[in-house]
Amino acid sequence: FRILVLNGPNLNMLGIREPGVYGSESLSDIEKRLNKLAEQEEIELAFYQSNHEGALIDKIHEAHGSCDGILINPGALTHYSYALRDALTSVSIPTVEIHLSNIHSREEFRRHSVIAPVAVGQIAGFGSYGYDMGLMAVKRHLQQK
Ligand code: DQA
Repeated sequence: FRILVLNGPNLNMLGIREPGVYGSESLSDIEKRLNKLAEQEEIELAFYQSNHEGALIDKIHEAHGSCDGILINPGALTHYSYALRDALTSVSIPTVEIHLSNIHSREEFRRHSVIAPVAVGQIAGFGSYGYDMGLMAVKRHLQQK
């Protein structure tokens, strides 16, 4: 399988940004670890991070016909981006939504995800381990399809 790992706004700041909430690992630390897991699982990964909604949407469109699954941490776009949601439904690639923090235990505005209804499922609250969980979950989902 080929899986696209997408990270949205401010996730390039991991390690610096509110480490008490998001942990001390950088995004490239997480990507390196994920690559090791992917190798063991015989999955091919492509990584992309952007602070721009449109760039993320373009990447999702590009994934059409070339990727089997998507792992996405949409950052704050989670809570309001209908355009990102529509991009995912446009390509109909099975998607797992990931959050480092438990969005359900934080501010009220973080509790709602406009992405969750079009995702296979959501993983939140397990820190960067959520990406590992998401990778295994999307693999299993694709195998069962
Ligand atoms: C986040 C949670 C979002 O509410 C926040 O805007 C982020 C990160 C997380 O991984 O916990 O940027 O998606």
